[in-house]
Amino acid sequence: MRKLAFVAGGSLVVVAAALMAWGGTSRAQQSTGPAEPDSIAATRLAASDTASLLGPRQPIFFRHDLHAGQYKLQCQYCHYSVNVSNEPGIPSLQTCMGCHLVVGGSDAGNSAEIGKLRDAWNKKQPVEWVRVHFLAQHVHFPHQQHIKALGPNACATCHGDVARMPQVHKVNNINNMGFCISCHIERKVTRDCTACHY
Ligand code: HEC
Ligand code: HEC
Ligand code: HEC
Ligand code: HEC
Ligand code: HEC
Repeated sequence: MRKLAFVAGGSLVVVAAALMAWGGTSRAQQSTGPAEPDSIAATRLAASDTASLLGPRQPIFFRHDLHAGQYKLQCQYCHYSVNVSNEPGIPSLQTCMGCHLVVGGSDAGNSAEIGKLRDAWNKKQPVEWVRVHFLAQHVHFPHQQHIKALGPNACATCHGDVARMPQVHKVNNINNMGFCISCHIERKVTRDCTACHY
């Protein structure tokens, strides 16, 4: 019990820091009123509104439009290794629970999805996210080199405006050599077969 209290105390600090980073906007935008013209408040979606969303259905309805859009969490807060490694990294549940030990959801739909997250955490079961972007085994794609050259906000160049997606879907056909080559030509980057192919 003492250990749990300690964990919860630590997470409160994280939440407080995150709230400060969000500024005053998050709470105001959580009300259902119309969004400010320049805001990117995520639309409210009930489970019944989600059937038409593009992209694979994930085991938990994790929303980038809410976390990266409305609450403005940096991509690197979760995809922590994107500028140092080939793989951007998918966050562990610990990253989520820093907030969700405390944030339980403000309506029935939110609470049900956050409930699944807390359940997985309690059972120490990693969430089996469905992968959206993946290249054939014979292709090598180093994220870090691209982020260094194109900048930390270049994600949208290849992935589209993820910060406004309730569910991630593929915007560009990355499984196509032409997609890579056309930018490499434009930017005068290597087109050597062995740079990309094992
Ligand atoms: C910095 C704090 C923070 C972090 C980190 C965070 N969340 Fe959230 N999350 C929130 C807030 C705030 C809400 C909005 C709750 C509400 O409106 O009731 C939310 C909402 C949600 C919802 C409900 C979405 C909906 O509209 O149905 C889910 C599911 C969720 N988060 C999952 C996750 C997962 C999975 C992670 C880790 C990959 C994560 N969250 C990380 C703060 C956070
Ligand atoms: C709070 C944590 C969190 C933040 C912040 C976040 N992501 Fe994610 N991201 C995830 C999780 C969890 C998944 C796996 C589930 C899914 O696909 O929705 C994911 C999946 C993705 C995927 C799909 C991966 C695949 O399988 O192909 C892309 C692309 C992505 N994120 C880009 C971004 C970008 C760009 C940003 C910033 C604008 C961002 N993410 C911010 C947690 C986060
Ligand atoms: C130049 C194009 C490009 C840029 C820029 C880019 N990505 Fe990717 N991303 C890809 C490709 C291609 C894949 C599939 C890689 C593979 O299968 O090896 C991918 C895969 C991913 C995945 C899934 C990884 C996994 O293990 O499931 C995530 C998450 C992701 N990118 C996040 C980001 C984020 C965050 C940024 C910005 C900081 C970003 N990407 C910038 C092209 C890009
Ligand atoms: C939007 C532009 C853009 C797209 C799209 C793009 N790249 Fe690149 N890529 C770059 C730039 C710029 C560099 C140079 C980085 C540097 O100078 O280190 C680079 C570097 C690389 C390198 C390292 C080359 C070396 O000499 O070490 C590889 C490998 C690579 N890209 C593979 C890919 C693959 C595979 C794809 C498609 C899935 C792709 N790139 C799509 C812009 C792009
Ligand atoms: C900038 C990165 C890049 C370079 C350079 C590159 N390729 Fe590719 N290549 C790719 C990508 C990405 C794919 C699609 C992989 C997939 O389907 O996921 C691909 C697919 C292929 C395929 C088709 C395989 C299949 O699965 O259908 C062949 C063949 C191929 N490349 C040969 C070459 C040859 C030969 C060269 C040199 C002249 C070359 N590639 C240079 C990125 C590259």
